[in-house]
Amino acid sequence: MLTGFWYRALPADRVHRNQLHKATLLEIPLVIGRDRLGKPFALRDACPHRGMPLHCGRFDGENLECGYHGWQFDVHNGQCELIPSLTSDQKLKVDRIYAGSYPCEEQDHFIWVYIPDPGPPGAGFGPPAEAPEPSPEVEKFSGKYKVAYLQAEMPVSIDHGIIGLMDPAHGPFVHQAWWWRTRHSIHEKQKHFEPIPNGFRMSAHTPSSNSAPYKFLRLYAEADSITTTIDFRLPNIRTETIRAGKYWFSSLTTVTPITRSHCRIDVVAAWNLFRWVPFVPELLKYVFAKFVEQDRRTMELQAEGLRYNPHLMLIDDADRPAKWYFQLKSAHLESKRTGQPMTHPMTGAVTLKWRS
Ligand code: FES
Ligand SMILES: [Fe+2]
Repeated sequence: MLTGFWYRALPADRVHRNQLHKATLLEIPLVIGRDRLGKPFALRDACPHRGMPLHCGRFDGENLECGYHGWQFDVHNGQCELIPSLTSDQKLKVDRIYAGSYPCEEQDHFIWVYIPDPGPPGAGFGPPAEAPEPSPEVEKFSGKYKVAYLQAEMPVSIDHGIIGLMDPAHGPFVHQAWWWRTRHSIHEKQKHFEPIPNGFRMSAHTPSSNSAPYKFLRLYAEADSITTTIDFRLPNIRTETIRAGKYWFSSLTTVTPITRSHCRIDVVAAWNLFRWVPFVPELLKYVFAKFVEQDRRTMELQAEGLRYNPHLMLIDDADRPAKWYFQLKSAHLESKRTGQPMTHPMTGAVTLKWRS
């Protein structure tokens, strides 16, 4: 589980003003809420006094009061504001005490939380870390568009979640549907990949002609003007952009580590296609939800097999993206350890071939 990155915590429409919500990211318990003005915040869900979960406390839209001894904290930086048990002659510097607090942003229907590298073991909390960059955003190519999200929990580790997401060979077996493709439409494919910072790109290409949505897109644009580009970057981000003339569809999918053995997939999609056609958003959401549910179900079954710690393998070329993922991850950790710039595992463009 990689620290020093932004992670999606909760869908924004589930986090209401003056309320407290629990969430877990990278095995860190969090309490998430919005202040009186709607600005989101994220605190570690444990009081720095004696560890009482802060979500059991009282929140007035500004300060959070712990339910055990009433210490009060500023929700945006975790700073202690009041310790009710202190008498007027006791000079404890209350404002030097902090509850753990994390940078928090709302972006494209999600509350994102920045998880910094852990401090030295045993150290308490200070003022929150600063995120080096804003939270990731779904790319948009016009002023007007629609957005939708969906999510699913998977009982597998982040690594299995991610390599499942980028795996090209499971499509014909897991994602069968009459309106998409059947296992008989399997054929040889060739895709070009190139390195990008912290990840890799499946270069812009004309999508495979055997899938129904792309046949549909051709009603809107010339076949060879339709391109799709898929990027993966650390720690957990997959973006897909489909462009067909002035029309576009763009998605940002993340696989978020909840605990060592659980992850969650969140997909946010934005598009300007078919904005005026009724039911298309519903239809798109249905298609997406079906795909995600097929993946979820598969990983649920896979988790049964993984329980016995089987010997596993990655084969060329279909599992090469998975190999890059593991190599990127260790290159990233190595660069953090040494302070040297990261050595990208890919030295240049690569063409992969597989049947799917
Ligand atoms: S445990 Fe929170 S105030 Fe004591
Ligand atoms: Fe899938």
